Amino acid sequence: MRHLHTRTTRRRTVAALTVLLLAVPGAPAVADEEGPASPALADGLALTPPMGFNNWNSTHCRAEFNESMVKGIADIFVEKGLKDAGYQYVNLDDCWALPARDADGKLVPDPVRFPNGIKAVADYVHSKGLMLGIYTSAGTKTCSNVGFPGALGHEYSDAQQFADWGVDYLKYDNCNNQGVDARLRYTTMRDALKATGRPIVYSICEWGQNKPWEWAADVGHLWRTTGDISDTWGSMLSILKQNLPLAAHAGPGHWNDPDMLEVGNGGMTATEYRSHFSMWSVMAAPLLIGSDLRTASDETFEILGNKEVIAVDQDPLGKQGSVVSSEGGRRVVAKEMKDGSRAVALFNETGSPQRIATTAAAVGLPDAAAYTLRDLWQHKSYNTAGTISATVPAHGTVLVRVAADRRWNQHPPAVELGLDGSPLVQAGTRAPLTTTVTDLGRTPARQVSVRLSGPGGWAVKPTSPTTSKALSTGRSLRTTWTVTAPQGTPTGSYDLTLKASYRSPAGLRVENVLPFTATVVVPPPAGTSDLGDLPWLSAANGYGPVERNTSNGESAAGDGHPITLGGVVYAKGLGVHAESAVEYYTGAACETVTADVGVDDEKGANGTVAFEVWADGTKVASTGVLTNALPAEPLTADITGARLVRLVVTDGGDGIDSDHADWADARLSC
Ligand code: GLA
Repeated sequence: MRHLHTRTTRRRTVAALTVLLLAVPGAPAVADEEGPASPALADGLALTPPMGFNNWNSTHCRAEFNESMVKGIADIFVEKGLKDAGYQYVNLDDCWALPARDADGKLVPDPVRFPNGIKAVADYVHSKGLMLGIYTSAGTKTCSNVGFPGALGHEYSDAQQFADWGVDYLKYDNCNNQGVDARLRYTTMRDALKATGRPIVYSICEWGQNKPWEWAADVGHLWRTTGDISDTWGSMLSILKQNLPLAAHAGPGHWNDPDMLEVGNGGMTATEYRSHFSMWSVMAAPLLIGSDLRTASDETFEILGNKEVIAVDQDPLGKQGSVVSSEGGRRVVAKEMKDGSRAVALFNETGSPQRIATTAAAVGLPDAAAYTLRDLWQHKSYNTAGTISATVPAHGTVLVRVAADRRWNQHPPAVELGLDGSPLVQAGTRAPLTTTVTDLGRTPARQVSVRLSGPGGWAVKPTSPTTSKALSTGRSLRTTWTVTAPQGTPTGSYDLTLKASYRSPAGLRVENVLPFTATVVVPPPAGTSDLGDLPWLSAANGYGPVERNTSNGESAAGDGHPITLGGVVYAKGLGVHAESAVEYYTGAACETVTADVGVDDEKGANGTVAFEVWADGTKVASTGVLTNALPAEPLTADITGARLVRLVVTDGGDGIDSDHADWADARLSC
């Protein structure tokens, strides 16, 4: 049963803020008691996830957010083929208005940013065959601290003003909501938009606070599921993890929104941006470009314009991909497609290459002799006997589309390139590495050969055969190598490339490449060292960077405070924010990690976290859920013989909120 009947003239009087404030707290805004929300708004809008642009992630409220930017983006959508690729909405975020309404209570566009008003911008965008979006808040003011007017209590007149300007999309934020029930606030605007008679996509932005996936299917076309994204791997990852479990709630006209894209903004590597774009697509997320395309690189356009990946996002069946397996930072997410195929993402959360594997049966494909496997970033097709696997670079994603079709034998066999052992190298010392080339296809791979190359000056030598006449299904060519970085090579990451070439039964030559990094490490010092002072191999954090010897300050490096647990101040340690993982090289030379752990005193009651210590992939110590009401908990981990130690903080199972976690006095004994 739908609830569009609530759109009666009654809403116009209810819209007054004073009346809203009288609403019984917690009472449902609409008579929705009879069961779960209905499937969707039956208005035919957003039948696939909205695609477009929003200025917020690139400009925030800075002056470059103005008419010329918005027009420039619309021009680029057309010129660079993004419109053809499906991008449609050009959306204005916060700060487009003046702080005060006019004498008639109308919103006034900022005359410096938008000297010709919003309608002129809408007309321009429409003239290009595109749509215009706008922003306001379901509160008395928007989120910017300048304090622009919000629509709470002005829903009908603001919606009408938007419609009169030709607006096609509204993002409706949550700031300054005066504690008014969320369902009431968001439903009132739904009805106000509907009353204009103009089709307007309605984007609910209450950050997942009131679990909109449970009630908003017939209120908005999409709803944010999390707090704001920022341009870091840690932020993207934590949002991804919060949005993945919500798959069952998404569908045509009602989408989970894990926030706008950061692709191209500079805070992540190209590999990480490809992961971001792959995972948003496999989650059927709205694809709203968040970088200033006027200065974007070719690589950014290549990522955002990948039509095979976009087709995964825009598949008309409208399923959000769901998690098939998740272990040790290796995730398999599969999305059922309308043609019966499956889009499969092999996502590597960790800081080192990982083999991630699944099967055609596990992702829901019918039993068949073989399948066509299409790599959506390589743009190449192969056949597989059923295994879907790859060595995925650190923070990378392999995205494939697998189909049980009869054309599989037109394609060469898929081969998987593998690495054994983690490529950690001490300068001047020979490090062993084993590579594998495995035939995943139903057909044999012939004339197989493998090459490994490293940076200039490095010695890379095979110590076993590098060729094989033929590999049949499931068989591997295993090659051992020694890799030596020259004496004095500084610590850090270095690029290596594994290449395999082979021929299909039809004689087609195939080249496969696995780029990966080897890390030059120094052995940890003998004796006891403060982890806050030692170099780490990698550090991932929910908000801002991991801090050395202070608490986590949430945004820039160095913005933390003295580490304080239960009133005790510590001079040394690590300040992190869930979800977090910090990795150290321990070179099989150390015995213990010790620390006093807990939620920093600087945060209120919301912070709940749990601590874990991992030694070479085995959990060797952990705490229960800790809050800032608890005193520091001493933690000791036996890491004898481990080459790698990983300090992990999880969110304690309740999402990420005020999770300032301290590894106070963290020490390594070697
Ligand atoms: C909130 C939203 C963001 C952005 C800003 C604008 O934080 O979640 O996406 O719109 O407001 O102020």
